[in-house]
Amino acid sequence: QNARESLYIVSEYAAGYFANELWTGNDGRAIGLSYFKERGFREDILKKFQLGYSPDVWDALIQNAVGAGHKEEYLEKTGLAIRNDKGKLYDRFRGRVMFPIHNFTGRVIGFGGRTLKTDKNVPKYVNSPESDIYHKSNVLYGLYHAKKAIRDQDNCYLVEGYADVLAVHQAGIENVVASSGTSLTTEQIRLIGRFTENVTILYDGDAAGIKASLRGLDMILEEGLNVKVVLFPDGHDPDSYMHHVGSGEFKQYIEGNRRDFILYKATILLKEAGTDPIKRAGIIRDIIESIAKIPDDIKAAVFIRECSSLLQVEERILLSELNKMRAAKL
Ligand code: UTP
Ligand code: MN
Ligand code: MN
Ligand code: MN
Ligand code: MN
Repeated sequence: QNARESLYIVSEYAAGYFANELWTGNDGRAIGLSYFKERGFREDILKKFQLGYSPDVWDALIQNAVGAGHKEEYLEKTGLAIRNDKGKLYDRFRGRVMFPIHNFTGRVIGFGGRTLKTDKNVPKYVNSPESDIYHKSNVLYGLYHAKKAIRDQDNCYLVEGYADVLAVHQAGIENVVASSGTSLTTEQIRLIGRFTENVTILYDGDAAGIKASLRGLDMILEEGLNVKVVLFPDGHDPDSYMHHVGSGEFKQYIEGNRRDFILYKATILLKEAGTDPIKRAGIIRDIIESIAKIPDDIKAAVFIRECSSLLQVEERILLSELNKMRAAKL
């Protein structure tokens, strides 16, 4: 049994331990399970994603795992245990609800743990560190549970967080993944590209989410994939909105508010620019910058046409701007 295999085994053991605590532990049920229920998550979803609870004890997992014959070395190498200055091991995850992270073959490679406290000084999520089996930049949370639906639907919904993946799934939309733990990477986009050419961004409707969506859509275009975006109202994220309006209306909202990237960018930027003509000219340039990232010339030409009619600017002016930008990049 090689070293990597040992890391998978201890991670899977930990996922089983945390899940068992959630469903059968006193604190797990009273604190963890009630928390998920209060947030509106169904039991089948909690089970499907193997959610768990880490007891609020310094070394609950370590004691249990070592008792079952697992080596401290592997607990440490997966980051489940941390060694302090005095050489003593303690659990990284304590008193948190646990989201196991699976690779796309379904093996557990890491965890995200959410605090139940509202104290602003406590980090909301603690995540596993990088390890020999967990390379964050090429992992998508939920991909294992989504990949079949991504192929079938020929589209992948991209959300920000763990809870968003669960909520969208619970609404009956199973082709959903999150780039959780890191901001979206090129490797993650290429991973999606193995299953579909179509990505729909469902990021949080707050300033940070909008900023991340603009960055993400450029990266997706650059990889030659098609991208659409849905903007959620009033600072909602997919999870809060789904629980706010219910799954039926949530699905309708997504269908009715899916925008291609040009319309999305134009809407966002025009709102920011107001009536300032110089700012409005900047928007046109900004949108062409996105179009210039599309590797396929024919697709780019189609978007130039759309941009022309949407912003009431002659196509040939946009095309010459596009060519200038492309020349500058070479
Ligand atoms: P959000 O702050 O939007 O959290 O971060 P969320 O997913 O909506 O969480 P809930 O609904 O309050 O439970 C989005 C994602 O960013 C990562 C997590 O993956 C989170 O799901 N994140 C956020 C961290 O890794 N650490 C943090 O402290 C906060
Ligand atoms: Mn690495
Ligand atoms: Mn957010
Ligand atoms: Mn969020
Ligand atoms: Mn949320």
